[in-house]
Amino acid sequence: MVATQLKLQERLQGVVKGTILNEEPLSLHTYFRIGGPAEVMVYPADLEDVKVLLKVVRDDTIPLLILGSGSNMLALDGGVRGLVINLSRTFLDLHVIGEQIRCGAGIRTSRLLALSAMNGLTGLEGLAGVPGTVGGAIKGNAGTPLGAIIDHLDWIRIVDGLGEERYLTREELNPGYRHCTLPMGSVIIETCFTLRRARVVEIRGMISTLLARRNLTQPVEGRSAGCIFKNPPGDFAGRLMECAGLKGIRHGNAQISEKHGNFVVNLGGSTAAEVLWLIERARIEVMAKTGVALELEIQIVGSPIAS
Ligand code: EPU
Repeated sequence: MVATQLKLQERLQGVVKGTILNEEPLSLHTYFRIGGPAEVMVYPADLEDVKVLLKVVRDDTIPLLILGSGSNMLALDGGVRGLVINLSRTFLDLHVIGEQIRCGAGIRTSRLLALSAMNGLTGLEGLAGVPGTVGGAIKGNAGTPLGAIIDHLDWIRIVDGLGEERYLTREELNPGYRHCTLPMGSVIIETCFTLRRARVVEIRGMISTLLARRNLTQPVEGRSAGCIFKNPPGDFAGRLMECAGLKGIRHGNAQISEKHGNFVVNLGGSTAAEVLWLIERARIEVMAKTGVALELEIQIVGSPIAS
């Protein structure tokens, strides 16, 4: 690990304008507040930095993790080898042009939603309470039953793994439930949404209703990564977890939420291993009691033990 780290640091020093961090704890960068160190983490200063980083990754075959705000991620205790590009402070432009919003990929979904509401533009209310960066939300087509982020997307601009800038339309992303197809190793830079006009008060009302419902039904005050599993066709992972008697069970400092069965909460000082144990137990028990194979919604990254 040390040898790669020195090599990678050496390669990046003076070449990248952004901030370079070594052995940076991922627990500081995930909503779970869990995760071992990232060997090297970089906050790119701009598009040029991203291109340079992708070139280094390509040339030296370095493992790459692209990180937004870490809201939908479980980073394992052994940490992540190679390079983590942290995009939560880059690409922050945000403009309204008529009924369109052009939005940098590093903007928070909450800011995008607030801007659309303020300008009387409707369509993005499904994002109410969904945390994360717009780039990360697009990657997982985040949303709620009211709608997902790609529903009103026109196009995104990316840098692909070969360092080329490209535009991709909504159709080219092949969006599905909590999923879309992005070229391997690509970084989203900019996004464009076309929305519809509505009264500000109506949009704000819809958002408030959704947020109030979320506060009532989800452990919003706890450290979690949102819903752990995707909803299986025609059913709800939370309901199945409840049927399997899993709500409230604890392992170490991790707990399946008493409020919503599809959330695991870090009660304080939990490890990724403890969360994983609960996830596996849930999968096994739900399968045994209901015959449904639950599929993960969150992204699991890194190694269980340091390498
Ligand atoms: N339910 C239970 N027990 C539980 C939890 C839920 O019986 O412990 C039942 C509810 O009573 C309801 C049904 O399951 O009949 C659905 O529950 P809920 O309305 O809470 O919605 P969900 O399907 O569990 C989805 C999204 C959430 C999003 C909410 C907004 C997925 C996997 N989850 O949850 O998204 O916030 O709708 O209503 O699509 C996320 O993506 O991280 C996330 C949390």
